[in-house]
Amino acid sequence: MNPHGTNDSTRARVKLSPSLLSSNFARLEESVREMENGGADWLHLDVMDGHFVPNITVGPLIVEAIRPITKLTLDTHLMIENPDSYIPQFVNAGADIITVHMEACPHLNRTVSHIKSLGVKAGVAINPATPLGLLEEILVDVDMVLLMSVNPGFGGQSFIPSLFRRAKTLRGWIDREGLDCMIEADGGIKLDNIANVYEAGVDVIVSGSGVFESNDPVKTLREMRKRCDATQLVEV
Ligand code: DX5
Ligand code: ZN
Repeated sequence: MNPHGTNDSTRARVKLSPSLLSSNFARLEESVREMENGGADWLHLDVMDGHFVPNITVGPLIVEAIRPITKLTLDTHLMIENPDSYIPQFVNAGADIITVHMEACPHLNRTVSHIKSLGVKAGVAINPATPLGLLEEILVDVDMVLLMSVNPGFGGQSFIPSLFRRAKTLRGWIDREGLDCMIEADGGIKLDNIANVYEAGVDVIVSGSGVFESNDPVKTLREMRKRCDATQLVEV
């Protein structure tokens, strides 16, 4: 048994989803290749609208530009108000997973159904101060919950440690009910804390500055996987 009370032997290997937000946008294709070489499973795309969060980043055009150059899963994190109006554009652009913030969706069930009806996976993101219990009714319908470990809006912020408690609680609910729902963690995750995040029960780990601001992004990503894999070798 691992610390979150589930059986490690049934535990899937970590999925790494490096965030392109911290990459050099002038050489986006090179960054995609580096992440492929480093063993990324997914690519995380941070979409910000200047309303839901104070920052503005990229939109469907960037998803569309990346889609033909990689087979990696495009993990699209919408930090925007009124996401329903934009979901079809992101699907047409080639997103594989669309994650919306529950704080931005008054009719979350409708939004999640909308995403799934267009044939892609649906995720729900939750900010660090939003009570986890608010997910209770939607868990059965979503493919993934994205637990924020920073307040969304910027790369390079410090990790908020309540993520550990929240991930363990959520893992417990998902496993107890036997739900088919992944847990993703996003914000402030680097080499020094990635193994702890994985051990808390997280399936998919996002890292932006921890990868792209390191001296060697390819090596860093590989080392991140090694550190997560190493947690599985210990018999408890
Ligand atoms: C924060 C974004 C994150 C962020 C991760 O609003 O959702 O994906 O870019 O970057 P780091 O790993 O630097 O916190
Ligand atoms: Zn993100």
